[in-house]
Parts: sequence; C-alpha cells; structure tokens
Amino acid sequence: MLFNRRQILKSAAALTVLPMAARASNHVMVASETIQQLAPEGFDKTRVWSFGGSVPGTPIRVEQGARVQRMVDNQLSVPTSVHWHGIRIDNAMDGVPGVTQEAIPAGGSFEYDFVVPDAGTYWYHAHNRSVEQVARGLYGPLIVQEADAPDVDQDLVLMLDDWRIDPETAQIADDFQNGHDLSHAGRIGNLISVNGSFDPTIPVKRNERLRLRLINAANARIFDVGIQGLNGWIVALDGMPLENPVPISESFPLAPAQRADLLVDVDAVSEETASLVSVERDGAFGLAKFAVSGEISATVRPAPNPLPPNRLPDVSSFQSAPLHRMVLQGGAMRWLENARIGETELTGRELAQLGRFWALNGEAERPAEPFLKTSVDSIHRIEFVNETAFPHAMHLHGHHFRLVDGDGSLGPWRDTVLVDRGQTQQIVLMADNPGDWLLHCHMLGHAASGMMSWFRVA
Ligand code: C2O
Ligand code: CU
Repeated sequence: MLFNRRQILKSAAALTVLPMAARASNHVMVASETIQQLAPEGFDKTRVWSFGGSVPGTPIRVEQGARVQRMVDNQLSVPTSVHWHGIRIDNAMDGVPGVTQEAIPAGGSFEYDFVVPDAGTYWYHAHNRSVEQVARGLYGPLIVQEADAPDVDQDLVLMLDDWRIDPETAQIADDFQNGHDLSHAGRIGNLISVNGSFDPTIPVKRNERLRLRLINAANARIFDVGIQGLNGWIVALDGMPLENPVPISESFPLAPAQRADLLVDVDAVSEETASLVSVERDGAFGLAKFAVSGEISATVRPAPNPLPPNRLPDVSSFQSAPLHRMVLQGGAMRWLENARIGETELTGRELAQLGRFWALNGEAERPAEPFLKTSVDSIHRIEFVNETAFPHAMHLHGHHFRLVDGDGSLGPWRDTVLVDRGQTQQIVLMADNPGDWLLHCHMLGHAASGMMSWFRVA
C-alpha cells in the first residue's frame, strides 16, 4: 500500500503510526532538503537535497541477484525520480520521467522494485531536471557484492562530487541555466567533496589491502585520478570486472557517472599519509587522505586475481553487426548552424535562445523517433563521432557495452564512455533488455541543452 509519510506525520495518528514507519525505514527513502558541512571547517553548512538525510544518500549494499525495494517519498517541493545508474534493470524501474514513469510529484511517492543481476559498483541519482537535482546532492551509492568477494581489509566507497558554492554563504549557486556552462564544459564547481565532505581522512594500516569504489557523481568534472602512497590495480570499470587487473602506474580519467574499482595496498610508511588525488594541469590536489598508523603485516599480498565475471552477453561476432553513427555536434567554438527540435528546423541563434547548444545527429532534443530501433538480442555497433571542441561522457541506459578499440579488438565493458574532442569511439552492445532506453551525455548540462537521445528494444 502506498502511504505518504509526511501526511502521516502531520496527522493526529502520528504517534501510533510512527513505530510502523520506523520499522519500514530501510525500505522508505525520503527525498528532502537537509543541511550538511560540505565546505571546510570555518564555513557555514550548506543546504542540500538528499535521499535519506545525507549526501551521498543512504548507501544501498546488497548481494548479487538480490531484490531491491525502495519506496521513494518525495518531501521536496519539486517533482523528482530515481535512476539506478548502470543496473541492467527492468525498464519500468529505470526512473526516467516521460519515458518509464511520471515524475514523483512533491508530496508523492513511488515504489521501485527490481533485481540486480550484476555484482559491482553502481549508483543512483535523480533523473528529473538532473542538471539541478544531482548538483544539489540527490544521489547515493548502490553496491552489489560478489558472492565470492576479493580478500581485502577495507571495502570503501568514495563518491566524488564537484560543487559550485558561493564562498560567502557556502550555499549552492543556483545558476543551473547558465548559458556559458551549458555551451562549454558544463557546470564545473569550486569545491570538491568525497562522500559529502571536503578532503576527508580515512584511517588505514600499513600493508592493508583496500578496495576503493570510486564513483564520479559530478555534473561535469572529469577527474584525473591518481594515488600516492598506495600501490594497486584497477579491477573493474562501471561495475564490470576487467578480464585482467590493470596496474595503476599513472593517473586515469574518471568521467561523470563512471566508476572504477581499485584494489590498492597501503605502502606508505607509518605516520605518513597516503592520498587519492586529482591531477590538474598545475599540479595535483588531494581528494581524500589515508592516515597510516600501525601495520597489519610485514608484507604485502601477491597481485590480485580478476574479480569473478558477471554474466554478460557474447558480442564477439560484433564485426558483422550493423554500425550506427551518432554525431556529437555544437557547443562553443563549433556553434550549431541549425538543428531540429521535433519537426522544426531552427537556426543556431534560435536554438541558443531556447538554451539549446548541442545536437546528436542534428536533433537538439530527445526526438520522437528512436535513434535505433531493434529486436531483442541483436548486436549493434554505435560509433560516436565527436565533432565538438569538448569531451562528452556518453551513457546508455539498461545495457552495458564493450568498447571497440582502434585496432578493432574488444575493450572493457562500460555503461558510460568518455569521447574526447575530435575523437571517434566505437562501442558494441547486445540489445537484450526490452524497453525504451535513454542515450545521452552525462555532462548533465549538455544533456539538458541538446545531447539527449534514445533507443528502443522490442
Ligand atoms: Cu546516470 Cu540518464 O543517467
Ligand atoms: Cu557532453
């Protein structure tokens, strides 16, 4: 039965009903405004929007194959929805207003109920006016544990975000429609947080092996992640295990919505600090510190085995699969000359007035017809041709895909691929999940200003 917790609390019966609501509390996920110390000590707390009372939202951690049920109770003053990013989910639970459900109205609720087929690191986030709602904090981690998990001393989720904060008030700048951001790299912030706080410190011991589950929840910032005082491997990307762990010898990019699972050994000497850093043109800044005290053993473990694989479809016959081109167009320095919104062809100037700066194959809004329409269980290649002057993080809903490397070999499985300026990147997917699925840039301002498409599997 649906119930609205806010109405219950307001009602005279609140006291008698509360214990029941409390019992159901791990099933109910409340979206509401809250305050949190995001900025460094000395700054005020920040008003944020959250799922479950904090940013990141309530962590969801389940076993592979489990059923996840969450009644999302929207106590915000605006409609919202929840998308379970990277889960190969039943279409009705995908959380896309206007495609798979109506947005959950203010004061309303929606029951999400789905099974998680794959182990790995995923996340959930609002999918209504995401450019604002994710920037205000509506996201959280969704961790699906392997039955046969690797041997580690700590399993840590590190959720990265990039906030734009007014330094005077420590409040979130509300210029979500800023045309300069939309038409350039997106909303880049001025305060980096990990798990909702600035440069947190995590206690570790020397020679511990840590699993670091990195999740980039930022609107637009591409982190160039590096480690110091730690030694290790990338073992999974976007939730999916790599066939062979990749030793981390230099920094690597983590685009919006992407995840990376690392297995790292603490090799800093005691009393020293190890760090997760972001490498910038003018040096590296710390994302999180690992304060090393004591040691668990005198030696480090041998190199890890690959994580147990998920049951992903066989796409090895991809060379004969149809190839669909998706051209990424527009943005500053490559301004659109024209593009369509629905049936209407508009000039670049008209589009800019509507806040549209980008297009996918000449469409500056999610088109009425899908980019790709396919029967279930067929293999397709998509070629993203980035004609713009900016990188884009292209995300497919409901499916993982494999990268096709330049030499024609198959690369890792992903759900979000970073396509650099001027780059062409081919992917291959088995369209095995029936439904209507979005395909969009995960720089959320780009998605809001034209980079939005969809495909139909039926
Ligand atoms: Cu993570 Cu359509 O989104
Ligand atoms: Cu983009």
